[in-house]
Amino acid sequence: MTQKIVAGNWKMNLNYEEAKVLLKELINNKDKFNPEVQLVICPPMPYLSSFSEVLNGQSWIHLGSQNNFFVDKGAYTGEVSPSQLKSLGVTFGIVGHSERRDNFNEDYSVISKKVKALLDHDIRPIFCCGEQLQVRDSNVYKEFIMKQITDSLFKLKADEISKMVIAYEPIWAIGTGQTATAEQAQEIHTLIRSRIASQYDEKTANAVAIIYGGSCNGENANELFAQNDIDGGLIGGASLDLDSFLTIANAF
Ligand code: 13P
Repeated sequence: MTQKIVAGNWKMNLNYEEAKVLLKELINNKDKFNPEVQLVICPPMPYLSSFSEVLNGQSWIHLGSQNNFFVDKGAYTGEVSPSQLKSLGVTFGIVGHSERRDNFNEDYSVISKKVKALLDHDIRPIFCCGEQLQVRDSNVYKEFIMKQITDSLFKLKADEISKMVIAYEPIWAIGTGQTATAEQAQEIHTLIRSRIASQYDEKTANAVAIIYGGSCNGENANELFAQNDIDGGLIGGASLDLDSFLTIANAF
């Protein structure tokens, strides 16, 4: 384990009032969170600005985006640039989530540009990868996941990829209650780390944080986080509840 990172992906949940209540609850319970864990919350985009103001001086919670464009500024109606995110104090950014690959046809070339744009603005990308159930069942899942990673990330320089967070999120485990077993997750995490080591070097591979996502909750986080190559979690549903998020964050 190289780092300890627990990130909450709030997705398109909570209205503004509800989101502010959850943020307040997190802040009020600061003392209960293990200070060795890097906590990240990725609220819906419109809330980032006020969250950033509320969190000013609260560097124990990092602010993350759920999406970004790859151009700095210009006539791109509806898009948000990494430099705009940076100006709000955003330090992490989710890229390539399966929900964006599926619903918005994001392919590897768009995803790799988004990753690079975040890195250029000193925002740590949380790059998501993972296979559908039929890919898992067809037994070519390792090749499938590694292709997602090599296509989108392996053009980066060593000092760039070493800043990455890679989230292994098997699609069949997202929002289904069917978590990958600790062994299934560890198998993929080890594979990812060893491929980075052979493409780059051992030091670079150990600097990359590899976290797990997909029905991670207070009951299973402990076993998952105990695995050698699992550096934390990307949490969906369970990040919307203070007690669950706290239990997960303290599960190392
Ligand atoms: P769940 O934790 O709700 O399964 O979602 C995982 C996820 O997609 C995080 O990005």
